[in-house]
Amino acid sequence: MISQVERAAASPATGDALPVMVQELVKRYPKRPTNAVDGVSFSVAHGEVFGLLGPNGAGKTTTVGVLTTRVRPTSGLAMVTGIDVMRDPVAAKRRLATVPQRSNLDRALSARQILLFHAAYFGIPAAERTRRANALLEEFGLLDRADDKVDFFSGGQSQRIMIARALMHQPEVLFLDEPTTGLDPQARLFVWDRLRDLRSRGVTMILTTHDMDEAAELCARVAIMDRGKILAMDTPEALTETVPGQNSLEVGIAVAAGDREALLAALSAVPGVERAEPVSKSGGGGPAGGANPWAAFAAGGGAPSGGAARGAVAPPDGTPYHVRLYTSVDAPSLVAPVARLITDNGGELVDLSIGKPSLEDVFIHLTGRALR
Ligand SMILES: Nc1ncnc2c1ncn2[C@@H]1O[C@H](COP(=O)(O)OP(=O)(O)OP(=O)(O)O)[C@@H](O)[C@H]1O
Ligand SMILES: [Mg+2]
Repeated sequence: MISQVERAAASPATGDALPVMVQELVKRYPKRPTNAVDGVSFSVAHGEVFGLLGPNGAGKTTTVGVLTTRVRPTSGLAMVTGIDVMRDPVAAKRRLATVPQRSNLDRALSARQILLFHAAYFGIPAAERTRRANALLEEFGLLDRADDKVDFFSGGQSQRIMIARALMHQPEVLFLDEPTTGLDPQARLFVWDRLRDLRSRGVTMILTTHDMDEAAELCARVAIMDRGKILAMDTPEALTETVPGQNSLEVGIAVAAGDREALLAALSAVPGVERAEPVSKSGGGGPAGGANPWAAFAAGGGAPSGGAARGAVAPPDGTPYHVRLYTSVDAPSLVAPVARLITDNGGELVDLSIGKPSLEDVFIHLTGRALR
């Protein structure tokens, strides 16, 4: 519908220059003991969606701030579409657009006015401004709110208008700083859908997030940032493959309660299994009858030993016994030997799933800390 975006993506104004290139970027804020950005280098290809993933204070906004000309770097090089953002911020700003982490919408204006004023600032002729505004208001589901003041908009609607605004001048590179933080799940999915649309039209995007699902969902490549540094950079798939011993196999077994302990020991001993842990399936994970939510009370203090709280309460007989096997080998290769062992021990395999490590696991592997 908005062919202007297609055109922008298809014809980079500066020939073959990479949309984004950052070399040895350093930013030290005044009176700060450490660098907020500490020697960061990366580049982004045409049409690529690139993610900066990291916890609070990692330096994501600062990195984006330099690239979008709002933060002056201490040293290093930042180029957008071949333009040095330090040398020629005005030219750089015409080629890029930013969706900031915090709303900077003028709350006295209507959604339509915000789009039109933004385009006027960029010198887009009046008729074209109107055409683009209508197309974007429709695409972002805001046509019926177009003439309402954004002061009354929900978080999700504000985010949508900020993205629409960013697209009004047909940027070659779109920076989105935590585009879905604070949005409810539905609003978040709507934004994801719009970003997927832009991705399929070939718009180059750099997005920051501390949400590993978002990074895995949208980004072709991800840089994992912490304390101003990039710790790892690759496709989400390649990053998760670097995590050792994180493949897992979860099995649900129909087996008499008295035989569970012996079976667990036997499963732990299967070659390739590093560890076997019972998992509780609460909230309807099992078949009819399910786990009794009051069982913990009934069980009193008598939790079995080894009691990593979750697996501690034995489900009533008839509910499958769920065990997670952490494997040092490819998890699918263990399905056959595990199934055989279960049968040999008088049980029956009734449920099976294979777990893959997430970007969260990658972050924990790299830093020893959780992402949030
Ligand atoms: N204007 C500023 N003056 C001084 N220090 C700052 C300024 N802006 C950011 N910092 C510091 O720089 C570091 C990196 O901050 P930055 O906002 O870039 O991180 P972030 O990864 O975007 O974090 P978040 O996920 O919380 O948005 C933090 O330690 C922060 O306190
Ligand atoms: Mg930030």
